[in-house]
Amino acid sequence: MSTKLRVGVIGCGSIASNHIRGYLDCGRYEIVGLADLEEPAMVEKDTAFSIAPRHYTDARAMLAQERPDVVSICTWHTGHASWTIAAAAQRPRAILCEKPMADTIGRAEQMVLACQRNGVKLGISHQRRFLPAYTLARDLIGQGAIGNVQTIQSFAADGLPNYSSHQTDMYRYLLGDDECDWVIGNVERKTDRYERATRIEDCAAGVFHFCSGALALLLSDLTPTVYQGALIYGSDGMINLTTRSLQLLSRATGGSWQLHEPDGAFYKLADLGDEFEWREAGAAQAAALADWIEGRTEHFRGAATNGIKALHMVHAVYESARMHEKVLLPMQTRQNPLDLMVDSGHLAPARPGPYDIRAFLLRGERMASDSEENS
Ligand SMILES: NC(=O)c1ccc[n+]([C@@H]2O[C@H](COP(=O)([O-])OP(=O)(O)OC[C@H]3O[C@@H](n4cnc5c(N)ncnc54)[C@H](O)[C@@H]3O)[C@@H](O)[C@H]2O)c1
Repeated sequence: MSTKLRVGVIGCGSIASNHIRGYLDCGRYEIVGLADLEEPAMVEKDTAFSIAPRHYTDARAMLAQERPDVVSICTWHTGHASWTIAAAAQRPRAILCEKPMADTIGRAEQMVLACQRNGVKLGISHQRRFLPAYTLARDLIGQGAIGNVQTIQSFAADGLPNYSSHQTDMYRYLLGDDECDWVIGNVERKTDRYERATRIEDCAAGVFHFCSGALALLLSDLTPTVYQGALIYGSDGMINLTTRSLQLLSRATGGSWQLHEPDGAFYKLADLGDEFEWREAGAAQAAALADWIEGRTEHFRGAATNGIKALHMVHAVYESARMHEKVLLPMQTRQNPLDLMVDSGHLAPARPGPYDIRAFLLRGERMASDSEENS
């Protein structure tokens, strides 16, 4: 009998491929069930990965019939909480849910609760924690290679929840999971802009303060330069981090940039190029999840305890704009503050008419996502 972990996937669109590939690349899982509203989405996965899991257009039927060890939640953000809670009720060993963890802090807390009461391990897929360049940057910072971190700068787009939840998570990872204690920021929202059915701003800026004294500065939809990674300034040097490499400049490097392109546990950057980021992070995340499930490690870098903090930091920018204040973390407002601002008329769109910048992902005649329960 196979000793592999049996996986069920809910939502078989673009990021589901990353989950499936990661599970297969790491060699410790088999994919037993796929669930999607659209049969062609599931067929695409079978073809792409030469797998033959059973297909379900009802995800609850997949959960009940397959009883997977691991459930991947790969629907749009608005469905993360509903599907995590539904999956937790079937008591798999672990759930790996996509980021942003939820559309509100309140729903994210319910996900944690549902998993706790059913004894299920919950991870959030901020997979860049598993990139060797990110981990090298974290280690160099921890060893004092650039002195005390003073500022981390990053540049984002496409709304804070989607793109910048990776960056708020990255700040904490780079700082050894230091806690963010306050956030100040602002948003502009003149158009009725959505991203995967989640209301987003036209542009935003945020400042994040950490217990160590470090600051992070985030500009979103404000500059032509947008990338995952960061410029990290310390009291004794700098790191320029991307998803594939880092450059270090310090007294020890003689004041010149020193390039590091670390290979991963599974793949080499030179062999995969642009694909490296996705393949390595996917496989390494899956391997670490298996270790956590099987009790080989006590902690998982991608645990929901970190994922929820990344969400708090994003929503704190909205809360700062709503309350005109420096927001202390953890947030106490459990609704999405951007929704509160818009729904109360405080931030009514000057140019009405909703549009979704990810509508191109929808299939068939659909121009809007399903209800929250089904998205
Ligand atoms: N970690 C990352 O780097 C990363 C990258 C891309 C996307 N994401 C996240 O992944 C999530 C999904 O994004 P995507 O780009 O894959 O979207 P997508 O639209 O390509 O895929 C979503 C899939 O969910 C299916 N679905 C919707 N309702 C369903 C239901 N009730 N039951 C079963 N299936 C259902 C849709 O039919 C679709 O195939 C988002 O939350 C996004 O933020 C993360």
